[in-house]
Amino acid sequence: MLENKRIGLLGAGVMAEVIASGLARSKLVQPADIVMTHYRQDRLDELQDRLGVEGSLKNREAYERCHIVVLCVRPQAMTTVLDEISPVLRGDVLLVSIAAGLPISFYERRLGRDIPFVRAMPTFFGRIKAGTTGLALNRHTSAEHLALVSRLFDTVSAHVVVMPEDEIDAFTTFGSTTTATVYVLLDALITAGSLVGLRHQASHSRAIEQVVAAAQNVVASDKLPSQLLDEICTPGGVTVEGVKVLEEKAMRGTVIEGVLAATERARDLRRASGTE
Ligand SMILES: NC(=O)c1ccc[n+]([C@@H]2O[C@H](COP(=O)([O-])OP(=O)(O)OC[C@H]3O[C@@H](n4cnc5c(N)ncnc54)[C@H](OP(=O)(O)O)[C@@H]3O)[C@@H](O)[C@H]2O)c1
Repeated sequence: MLENKRIGLLGAGVMAEVIASGLARSKLVQPADIVMTHYRQDRLDELQDRLGVEGSLKNREAYERCHIVVLCVRPQAMTTVLDEISPVLRGDVLLVSIAAGLPISFYERRLGRDIPFVRAMPTFFGRIKAGTTGLALNRHTSAEHLALVSRLFDTVSAHVVVMPEDEIDAFTTFGSTTTATVYVLLDALITAGSLVGLRHQASHSRAIEQVVAAAQNVVASDKLPSQLLDEICTPGGVTVEGVKVLEEKAMRGTVIEGVLAATERARDLRRASGTE
């Protein structure tokens, strides 16, 4: 399916590298059939050396040479890239964007052509092929386009799901803020472990082990997190004292506010794109 397809990744940053590595690992695509773009030659040289992909300084030239093109620049740089490729747009090239916050209507308006387009939201976990990629497709896509793009993101995620476009912002911000919250939490726990006398390495590995086990336990037990919390809080015991402080310091409310703030930022990006 992806065999014999040349894939362009425009904007060779973190996510483009994750996707290129996933594709190369899958062996569905030869590294030489992956074209990555950046405006810095040293970044392209580094990727060529490490992954064996092809590098190009020109987005338009890369687009013209590929069957599937994934826009991997940040939302703020999207207009520049779209304006570069729009004079050479073709209906037989599947265009995909992974940018957060920009709706399909933004691309359609800017490009002004009826082309197959997919808005994709992969996770940060491409390196371990975990998490879910969400897809929203425009009306010019076919079953073959869906199969192609599913196969592509299958190389960097455990699951690929198609969803209505109006759900993708919440899917994105909830996913990214959940990950960020866990990283902040882990970082704080490691410091706390050191403060109560664990060696740094022990604090690090025990914090990770506990967070992973706590999440696995929710999956395995079929119980709500609040029920499990109740189970580990022995009345009059030590854990419940810690939980009391977390409640007093409004940890729960702060986590919720973080998710809401990220969702508001996605709304700002949409407004700035002129689509709201
Ligand atoms: N990071 C995540 O976890 C994640 C997850 C899902 C989706 N996304 C989306 O994925 C996209 C990329 O995110 P990222 O974290 O990979 O960002 P990133 O590391 O900044 O990657 C974008 C790259 O594109 C380069 N670039 C900027 N303008 C360019 C141009 N005109 N032509 C070619 N390259 C250009 C940037 O260079 P400079 O840095 O020098 O400007 C940067 O190296 C974003 O739209 C984001 O919303 C990210």
